[in-house]
Amino acid sequence: MAFDIDMIRRVYAQFGEKVDQTRQFLNRPLTLTEKILYAHLSGEWPHQPFERGKSYVNFAPDRVAMQDATAQMALLQFMQAGRDKAAVPSTVHCDHLIQAKEGATVDLKNALNSSKEVFDFLASVSNKYGIGFWKPGAGIIHQVVLENYAFPGGMMIGTDSHTVNAGGLGMVAIGVGGADAVDVMAGMPWELKFPKLIGVKLTGQLNGWTSSKDVILKVAGILTVKGGTGAILEYFGEGARNLSATGKGTICNMGAEIGATTSTFGYDETMAEYLIGTDRKEVAELADGIKEHLTGDAEVYAQPEKYFDQVIEINLSELEPHINGPFTPDRATPLSQFAEEVKKNNWPKELEVGLIGSCTNSSYEDISRAASIARQAVDKKLKAKSEFTITPGSEQVRFTVDRDGFLNDFDKIGGVVLANACGPCIGQWARHTTDPNRRNSIITSFNRNFAKRNDGNPNTHAFVASPEVVTAFAIAGDLTFNPMTDTLINEEGQAVKLDEPQGLQMPPKGFAVEDAGYQAPAKDGSQVEVLVDPKSERLQLLEPFEPWNGENLTGLKLLIKAKGKCTTDHISMAGPWLRFRGHIDNISNNMLTGAINYFNDASDKVKNQLTGEYDSVPQVQRTYKAAGVGSVVVGDHNYGEGSSREHAAMEPRHLGVKVVLVKSFARIHETNLKKQGMLGLTFENEADYDLIQEDDTLNLIDLADFAPDRPITVELEHANGTKDTFKTLHTYNEQQIEWFKAGSALNLIKLENAR
Ligand code: F3S
Repeated sequence: MAFDIDMIRRVYAQFGEKVDQTRQFLNRPLTLTEKILYAHLSGEWPHQPFERGKSYVNFAPDRVAMQDATAQMALLQFMQAGRDKAAVPSTVHCDHLIQAKEGATVDLKNALNSSKEVFDFLASVSNKYGIGFWKPGAGIIHQVVLENYAFPGGMMIGTDSHTVNAGGLGMVAIGVGGADAVDVMAGMPWELKFPKLIGVKLTGQLNGWTSSKDVILKVAGILTVKGGTGAILEYFGEGARNLSATGKGTICNMGAEIGATTSTFGYDETMAEYLIGTDRKEVAELADGIKEHLTGDAEVYAQPEKYFDQVIEINLSELEPHINGPFTPDRATPLSQFAEEVKKNNWPKELEVGLIGSCTNSSYEDISRAASIARQAVDKKLKAKSEFTITPGSEQVRFTVDRDGFLNDFDKIGGVVLANACGPCIGQWARHTTDPNRRNSIITSFNRNFAKRNDGNPNTHAFVASPEVVTAFAIAGDLTFNPMTDTLINEEGQAVKLDEPQGLQMPPKGFAVEDAGYQAPAKDGSQVEVLVDPKSERLQLLEPFEPWNGENLTGLKLLIKAKGKCTTDHISMAGPWLRFRGHIDNISNNMLTGAINYFNDASDKVKNQLTGEYDSVPQVQRTYKAAGVGSVVVGDHNYGEGSSREHAAMEPRHLGVKVVLVKSFARIHETNLKKQGMLGLTFENEADYDLIQEDDTLNLIDLADFAPDRPITVELEHANGTKDTFKTLHTYNEQQIEWFKAGSALNLIKLENAR
């Protein structure tokens, strides 16, 4: 059994009591989201209610899930915490490193060769620290989590933005960076800004060509890509109860596309059915035992405007299928108006590829509905005019839909089954094309469709729709086709029309699988060796960062004074560098290479104060490090905005930068710097940014008295012998100062674990 029933028992044993306590505390009825969040508080009960969108709150999530790309650095860091086992049940899923090219078997074999060392490392480190390991080919993280681990009322974090998919089973599941996963696995509280709440009331029932996907395509059109930022979407109403659990998962999955923290649904019968169908009867029984707590209070749903910050209502009976795109997932067009939009906007009419599946849409229901279209096509003597691919979300789904004949249906219209992995969804797609910049159209049942996302071609117009609509379009090969009204000419020259899709929420013969691809960890991992080849260019074991010696920092050279926007992408670029995510020294060769140097407006060209020469930022920093000289990075406003990528904080620390001094920080990056034992300061007076010269040496003359709320004085020694002095501020609390002293938060945890 892969899931941890004891953990769920523990969560449920206290759930009702915590919900009652919260209801009394807030003195009003509760949304489901509030019940789950308050039931997962870490530490002491708050003195006053949290302010939505304002308060920072510490939580204790129940689970952690990691995908293979982000798990590498997370686990290398976790190894520094000095623990025998992860503090909460955790899993690793190998899904991002498999490139789609020929089809499942060949592609998987190639990935096992090219990323062998990464998979071996992840398998061994998981085995050692009690972490469940899902092998390459086992499936896509979010589908596997839904099938095995998600549970109503639970709280989970995952190192991938579509972790939110688990809301389909009534969880609060949130996508985070590797550093957050390390916190939770190391047993530290996990911090989140208490979200705003958006209620989505669903009435009626889906019918005809409309599916769950169309609910979120419609919501994305209403809220746009920013409309969910900082909010949790809570779906409710009779319409919600009519949706399958996997359909709910699809809706939650694409909540990431509107920037939502996550989305969730109240526990209901379809969830119970799905739990039972996926071999988790015990979980369903436990959830039934506290089911009144696993949904919002009736008063809330009766008067949602009173309890949510915003309310949206959608009548499923009237909802039309939608097609969203190109280039953004919130450009929503109802199917009946799509052909006109294609013509009006001159989008490439010929459809080159239709792709179904992925973590968003590869449930039994999705595949069975899409297969019903493929089957009709065969009966009506049609073949897919476009290339057509199927990406199953897990081996369990693949095995089951194969057994039930659906893959055969796809095969007959020319469909190619890809590996149970992300593939084209994450851009791991060796597309069959001679011109990678050609204007063209594709349609997918995935979630993201930004330029270049799927195939790297900026001129690929990627549209997003449900699997059944994608299948119909792939058969037509034409974006102006409307399957609800139009006919197609078959091999015999007859005009034929496709009937509405038919499908089943759950397999009548049950799910089946021969080898799900799960590897349970050793009970006692103390003797397990973590496999990292010292010569590897992709993986490197971490060395603990040096503790602070308690003295002032002096003689620091200015490395770069960054001008304007400096995001985590400017600090640690993605693209080809993703290959080195598990190798701190190699990936550090991209440090700040995207930042603009204030003194010459160039990127990656800074003055080496030891030689007077200009060179790349990492190169100059390496010479400072070799000479035992510390350095300072100076930045503008909102320094480190963007992602929660921990590499952006680890790289400067690894290369010997001592201080990051900016006008203001993006909060997550500031916290990441603190965790890595770096000193992050802000100018008390922003104009002091202008005092900093290219040849400056900086001294922190009263750092020895480092204490909460106490400013730190910086002395600037200019090359002409003059000096300037100014104050800087910081936000370190007592605990964070201890991190700084120990060299990093993990060093401190290790010390505490050793006591
Ligand atoms: Fe993400 Fe797509 Fe994989 S959304 S988890 S890349 S299938």
